[in-house]
Amino acid sequence: MSSEPEATLTVSKIRFGTVIDHIPSGRALNVLKVLGIRGREGYRIAVLMNVESKKLGRKDIVKIEGKILMPEEVSVIALIAPTATINIVKDFRVVEKRRVEVPDRIEGLLRCPNPTCITNKEREPIRTKFRLVSRNPLVLQCEYCGTMVSEKDIIELLGNGIDKR
Ligand code: CTP
Ligand code: ZN
Repeated sequence: MSSEPEATLTVSKIRFGTVIDHIPSGRALNVLKVLGIRGREGYRIAVLMNVESKKLGRKDIVKIEGKILMPEEVSVIALIAPTATINIVKDFRVVEKRRVEVPDRIEGLLRCPNPTCITNKEREPIRTKFRLVSRNPLVLQCEYCGTMVSEKDIIELLGNGIDKR
């Protein structure tokens, strides 16, 4: 009747939680990392990678049962998965669908990659501030030292989770 069974990968709907959909393929694990989720927190999580998408060709999906994402978490996802859609699910229904958006200014989420930047001073480190230079391709600029940060840099910088400063 419908598509061949072996051609689809079926994953249960969730009852309550968040579905992060339309993640660029291959970045699902980066999304979990920036959310600080390591798998030992007890959430039931489904990670789908490289599944078919009408819009993206291939995409990743992360389903987190029992967790509703905070706005700060949504904006950090925007930095590594700008195409993502955040679906808030309650009682099996999508009650809210949000597109992520990179904010014009990003404060305190990313470390500056320039080791001599004032924000990296051992003594009295200050909160980082980046200005959005371009959305596509994603480019940010440190407001203190002018260093340009690309999407690739951001994925590396966020590789170990949010580094709050
Ligand atoms: N989903 C889920 N559990 C639910 C409801 C939805 O896991 N109880 C998942 C769906 O499998 C899908 C995503 O949440 O991956 C969004 O659901 P929905 O809005 O119903 O799908 P679409 O209309 O296809 O979404 P979009 O228009 O954003 O592509
Ligand atoms: Zn700097």
